[in-house]
Amino acid sequence: MLGGEEFEIETEELPADRVAVPESFAEQANVTPGQLRRFTEEGVDAWEMAGDLLTWDRPYRTVFDAEACDWFPDGQLNASVNCLDRHLDERKNQRALVWEGQLGETRTDTYLELSRKVNAVAAGLRELGVEEGDVVTLHMPVIPELLVTMLACARIGAVHAVVYAGFSAEALATRMAESNSSYLVVSDGYYRRGDAVSLTNRAETVRAGLDQDVTTVVVDRLGDNHQYPLGADEHQYRRLLADHRGETVDPVPRDATDELFLIYTSGTTGEPKRVTHTTGGYLAHTAWTSHAVLDIEPSDTYLCTADLGWITGHSYIVYGPLALGTTVLLREGEADQPPRTKLWELIEKHAVDILYTSPTAIRTFMKWGEEYPEEYDLSSLRLLGTVGEPINPDVWQWLYEHVGGGECPVVDTWWQTETGGHLITTIPGVDEMQPGTAGPALPGIEATVVDETGAEVDPNTGGYLAIETPWPGMPRELSEETRWAETSGVLPDSEWAYMTGDGAVVDDEGYVTILGRVDDVINVSGRRYGTLELESVIVGVEGIAEAAVVSGYDGRDQGIYAYANPDTDAADELALREAIYQAVETQIGSFARPDRIVFTPELPKTSSGKIMRRLLSDIAHGNELGDTSALRNPEVVGEIESATQSD
Ligand code: WTA
Repeated sequence: MLGGEEFEIETEELPADRVAVPESFAEQANVTPGQLRRFTEEGVDAWEMAGDLLTWDRPYRTVFDAEACDWFPDGQLNASVNCLDRHLDERKNQRALVWEGQLGETRTDTYLELSRKVNAVAAGLRELGVEEGDVVTLHMPVIPELLVTMLACARIGAVHAVVYAGFSAEALATRMAESNSSYLVVSDGYYRRGDAVSLTNRAETVRAGLDQDVTTVVVDRLGDNHQYPLGADEHQYRRLLADHRGETVDPVPRDATDELFLIYTSGTTGEPKRVTHTTGGYLAHTAWTSHAVLDIEPSDTYLCTADLGWITGHSYIVYGPLALGTTVLLREGEADQPPRTKLWELIEKHAVDILYTSPTAIRTFMKWGEEYPEEYDLSSLRLLGTVGEPINPDVWQWLYEHVGGGECPVVDTWWQTETGGHLITTIPGVDEMQPGTAGPALPGIEATVVDETGAEVDPNTGGYLAIETPWPGMPRELSEETRWAETSGVLPDSEWAYMTGDGAVVDDEGYVTILGRVDDVINVSGRRYGTLELESVIVGVEGIAEAAVVSGYDGRDQGIYAYANPDTDAADELALREAIYQAVETQIGSFARPDRIVFTPELPKTSSGKIMRRLLSDIAHGNELGDTSALRNPEVVGEIESATQSD
């Protein structure tokens, strides 16, 4: 199952020196060395502490039931109560949400206002027929209505499935079909880098492609200039809110193991991978890590630049931070979208305490130059965090110095859609930082690096990253697999293991350096794509015989590189290229458009006929090529190399 054939670990980059925790930070940190020792030396269970951060309708007695692989199995709670109701006594007039829109709008909701909207929308959804356990699909940009609807679903025990706004109608329909979702809350459009993109026909197209009836609620984002004609079974969000204003909806107590939401990500098959997160375990995990790793306090203003459509938005914009009662600053648009001063302006304007962003955004900021952050007063910042891909040590240093002024710890948090929350990262008030290295596994987590046979490798040796302890944010799919299938034996020395799909190196002190994906998933600028999913779209284009998709690097940026082998009688390359772009755009979305399409008369294959992606990936990265003697057609390599370079 480890499929090591195509995989070689590169460990050329030497780790940078460790950086001490800034003292001013350590003094006020949520988790101190003393507290951490309680986990390691006194056997205090970190995950019990996580559970205790929440408000339960029925308190749990068991933290983890190993046999069933369930977290807090006998507890009951409601996520919207944890994110809203329980804060009202203390901070009903504190801002819960500050939204900065693409057109320069600012909207603010206090906890009381947010809670009222969530109640009204919950009442509206109920009236439309949504019941506990129903899947409600949400398809919107980063606007307050999305967050409100997520919490409204949680309130009535409905399961939300947010589909990133950049996905095409077809991709949306595939996901709704897979989850058998009969409810869609969609915006009339969104702004992409300032330009309006209409979603008007989306609901219609989706409904035409589905067996089930779909009730639709339309959120007005584009305003008066845009007409969205409502059809049968289509309702206006604004009306829904107005009709139910002032109503309260009793929160539905959910078992800790009940679904809170599902989210689709890219897997190793050609299909979208469904990941289902639970109400208790997931919420405990995200609340605890928001407290311990992101150091969030209720008095903070917290900015995370992720899109709500991906897991980071779910865990570290909505559930974790709101469970802690902080002020969340929500920005519509990409972190590194012009104007170049925007992010710094927002941090100054709102006196942001914590910034959680991606290495890819920071690389852009670095390219733009330090003069932009330096124009602004960023002294309110206390902590910086990154997620999504490895951060190069020089990029780390830039962030540390030019944004954090050398006084804010940087947490490089490793996790995945499947993990729900952080698993590997330094704890900012405790652990020394190492630029380029995520850090140790969190208390309660055992991370190991193994070879193709599943045996643990020596420290400082590359291998496959495995997690050998279950964690509360684990998805339902994984508990079920553990419960029903014979998973012992995945690793010979371990009772249970989750193979992450990443390559990694661990040093003598347990610090984990992530080397990137080693399966059929690629990670490009912090975004995840399934190579098989892309390849099947490309091969579906008339005139393309075979295709292989890898991540590449053109000296400046990472990108999606598609290698395609046209039929001999295929149309000209220009037309094929256009057809590939079209196919990706309609079947997935324009965000998945390949950055490079390289046509080659043949793809490199092993003697057994398998496409050698590793070799293509090396070519796409401009790496030294290893041994190509195992190839059936070594003569194509030179040709592909020159085609890649000249394209
Ligand atoms: C990568 C995003 C290095 C990794 C939360 C993982 C990272 C994939 C880091 C999951 C990090 C995430 N350092 N690589 N700090 N964080 N990754 O599901 O390859 O979109 O497997 O979840 O991102 O991507 P996903």
